[in-house]
Amino acid sequence: MKRASHLVRRFFGALRPGPPRANDAAWVESVLTPGELEIWSRMVNHDRRHSVAVARRVQHSFANTPTADDSRWLAAALLHDVGKLDAGLGVIGRASATLAGAAAGHDMAEAWSAKRGVTRRFGLYLRHAELGETRLRLAGAREEAAAWAGAHHAEFKWDALGFPEGVVAVLDAADDD
Ligand SMILES: [Fe+2]
Ligand SMILES: [Fe+2]
Repeated sequence: MKRASHLVRRFFGALRPGPPRANDAAWVESVLTPGELEIWSRMVNHDRRHSVAVARRVQHSFANTPTADDSRWLAAALLHDVGKLDAGLGVIGRASATLAGAAAGHDMAEAWSAKRGVTRRFGLYLRHAELGETRLRLAGAREEAAAWAGAHHAEFKWDALGFPEGVVAVLDAADDD
């Protein structure tokens, strides 16, 4: 569970309107495969802006290293939160889901997602990692992007990813929510 300061920053960050800038959107198109781009494009504006911010931080971290030209890690950054598509929650609903998950325990998410209405949406939101992984695999996205989407909030899964030394640390540090 991320700290409350992250939640507050995310809440106010999400209130900024508009899609990513045109040069960022063009960059995303150059990084993603057509199938990955199709999913990325369906995210709401603030999720796409978040994904670009995370991927730009990853790009910056890998600048002038052998990893700089490897678009798999940029794709992983751009696609890590695509599971949020499934809940269809707005800013207030997301903040509420996060607080409810913190209060009731994340283990409740699966039961909630089997219910109806807002309870179901909260459950789906809290399960966005695994839902994103499934969505990406079904779309034929690159393995690294699907695997990171599924693991990005679950530190115990990171060793099993088998990513090159240092990549997970960069991807995690770049994600501020
Ligand atoms: Fe996430
Ligand atoms: Fe994120």
